[in-house]
Amino acid sequence: MEQNPKSVRMWIITCLLFILGQAMENDRDFKMCGTWRHGNASRNLKSDLKVGCKVIEISANESTLSIQGSITAKCTRSSSIPLESNPLQNPSHFCVFWEPLLDLMIVEVNGKKYTLCESHGLQGTCCTDLSLEDQKIATLYGIENGSIHGDTISYNVMELYRFRGDTINCKEKFCDEASQKRSGANMIEEVVMKSNKTGRVDLPCAQSTIIEIKEGFTGLNFTLPAPRTVAPNMTPTVYLPSCLKSQSTITSKVVCTYYKDKSLFQRGSSDAVLLDDIVGLSVENEIIKNLPEPVRIRFHHSALPANLSRRCVSWDTREDNEVTWKYDGCETEIHDTETECRCNHLTYFAILVQVEQKATVRHLEALTFITAVGCAVSLVSCLVLFYWLCKRSLYSKRVKKTQISLVHRGLVVAIFLLCLFFILTGTMANVGKKIVCQITGSLLHYALLSTLCWMAMEVFHTFLLIRKVFNSTLPTWIFYLVGFGLPVLLVGILLLIENVYDVDIYGERKIVPSDDVNNPYRMCWMLENDKSLLAHYIINVGLLAVVVSSGAVMLFLVVREIHNRPDWKKIHVAFLSIWGLTCLFGTTWGLGFLDFGPVSETILFIFCIINSLQGFFLMLRYYALERMKKKDRSISDGSSSGSSKQHMLQTYEKS
Ligand SMILES: *[C@@H]1O[C@H](CO)[C@@H](O)[C@H](O)[C@H]1NC(C)=O
Ligand SMILES: *[C@@H]1O[C@H](CO)[C@@H](O)[C@H](O)[C@H]1NC(C)=O
Ligand SMILES: *[C@@H]1O[C@H](CO)[C@@H](O)[C@H](O)[C@H]1NC(C)=O
Ligand SMILES: *[C@@H]1O[C@H](CO)[C@@H](O)[C@H](O)[C@H]1NC(C)=O
Ligand SMILES: *[C@@H]1O[C@H](CO)[C@@H](O)[C@H](O)[C@H]1NC(C)=O
Ligand SMILES: *[C@@H]1O[C@H](CO)[C@@H](O)[C@H](O)[C@H]1NC(C)=O
Repeated sequence: MEQNPKSVRMWIITCLLFILGQAMENDRDFKMCGTWRHGNASRNLKSDLKVGCKVIEISANESTLSIQGSITAKCTRSSSIPLESNPLQNPSHFCVFWEPLLDLMIVEVNGKKYTLCESHGLQGTCCTDLSLEDQKIATLYGIENGSIHGDTISYNVMELYRFRGDTINCKEKFCDEASQKRSGANMIEEVVMKSNKTGRVDLPCAQSTIIEIKEGFTGLNFTLPAPRTVAPNMTPTVYLPSCLKSQSTITSKVVCTYYKDKSLFQRGSSDAVLLDDIVGLSVENEIIKNLPEPVRIRFHHSALPANLSRRCVSWDTREDNEVTWKYDGCETEIHDTETECRCNHLTYFAILVQVEQKATVRHLEALTFITAVGCAVSLVSCLVLFYWLCKRSLYSKRVKKTQISLVHRGLVVAIFLLCLFFILTGTMANVGKKIVCQITGSLLHYALLSTLCWMAMEVFHTFLLIRKVFNSTLPTWIFYLVGFGLPVLLVGILLLIENVYDVDIYGERKIVPSDDVNNPYRMCWMLENDKSLLAHYIINVGLLAVVVSSGAVMLFLVVREIHNRPDWKKIHVAFLSIWGLTCLFGTTWGLGFLDFGPVSETILFIFCIINSLQGFFLMLRYYALERMKKKDRSISDGSSSGSSKQHMLQTYEKS
């Protein structure tokens, strides 16, 4: 019971604070309405306004509604406007609006607006907080039910209301108000739009530029105005494309605002940090989406540690009250001390650069070293193996054998290229030319695809031999076409997409070591943007999946085919281990290029070792097979099971 009065009191105080808060918010702008009892003859709206901050009198008699006093910053006006005479409309409803920040005064009588003072930009000091000082009661004609912001002052018919104002710094007060509100950025852009100016408009919390775009607008580059505290070369630059000009209006205004006050935006709950600069763009009375050419905003900032990533985000304030940053609709281009956002939409929105943690690789130096050594060993192994294979096929007279040798040789060449380009990619990335890196990246990709294709063909060829599908052999050119031609086609398509749609697929990738984030390891490979990732998943992962799954199926088929034969027991260990090795290193190259996120360090080391030594393993496998064949041949000489052995030997060769 004790609690109750207390909580009621708290509640009342909260309500009072809320009401007071509302009242204070509304104080800046003034709105007085009432019902004007007037005669049936002609009527006028009389005004006599002067610069200053004293009193304003709103009075009415039989024929005249009169606004006079001195509260404006720039506007002086003395006039008498005849109002439309409609004897049936008596009394008339009227309102007086005063927006001191804009120096804007509008009187509305029976729904028709009369602008007494037009806005000429935002005012620094202005006359606001108009409070009732005096009122004079009338007999017959005058103002009935006079109200301020909807609260009735008096139900009586009054001849005159007099209000006294106060001088304040309007801009500061406005910024304070905006920062209290969720839609603060909207408030700012609306006021700027209403200020009826072109060019620069300054507020303590934001700097805006209003640009009028007319018929024949061909796009515009400009630097946003900035407060004096920001160095001129650090302020964002904006490019407005020609497609911003709407067809429906002759001219339209674009407001570009530079917010230095992050607090207007940072209330959304997010781990990400916003960079200092925020830019808002809006077009008068329009919601702009799906622009054919993007708006470009370039942010300048100090160099960031490489373990942070940046991303452009936008916020559609018209749709949600909460600050929820969206990632779609903007592309991010990252340079060392600059970030460019290309966005195809622009409602009431803001763009910023998000900073978040980026994955780093531990022991990158050791891994790089291991890979380099492994690749060097592989290169030599490939050369040796290639020489062996060529020598053997020279002496061999059997077509089938030549073909097996051809598939082996194809794989050796592909792995040789893969290791070669892998070693080159690090060097080429440091040349610094974009085109060089793009070419190296596409060559590396070609070598990887070629390796995967030749692996697929080893599997396929084995299948043909085991099932004895064809007694005759396939023409040689088919193997070359698939092994070297198909990758050309795939890479060619990607290069075509790159050029036609002007997207970057190949280019410089940075791998960030965790112990020295500012010295990333550069390599040329596929980039990390959406389109490259899509191509990566479809082509690389797809092809890898085909190779791995068909390899597994093949192993199963081979085992099923031959495990009932009498000599199976003798050789199955060697057989399985050779196949297993084949499958293992078939997958590893692919795995090395897949981004499986945080893998354990041990796995990473094993991947690197196996991947880079692939050429060496290929040579080992070939050597082991040759040894086994020779042994087999000497044992089976003259034995009755010769033909079955012969078949099995072929099976090994295929693998
Ligand atoms: C004005 O005209 C209306 C309708 O014609 C009439 O009812 C009203 O009495 C008139 N008022 C005066 C003040 O003449
Ligand atoms: C009504 O008021 C205006 C000024 O406020 C004055 O000039 C005019 O003479 C008045 N008309 C009558 C009929 O009192
Ligand atoms: C004035 O307000 C009272 C109470 O709300 C209402 O009854 C009356 O009709 C209003 N008078 C006019 C002229 O609008
Ligand atoms: C804006 O100001 C100019 C004069 O500077 C005026 O001619 C024009 O009508 C104004 N426009 C609006 C919408 O207030
Ligand atoms: C804007 O600047 C960019 C790069 O600085 C340039 O390519 C483009 O042609 C410029 N556009 C206009 C309309 O000046
Ligand atoms: C990112 O780099 C900075 C300095 O370069 C370092 O202080 C910070 O610990 C790094 N963060 C992580 C998670 O590695």
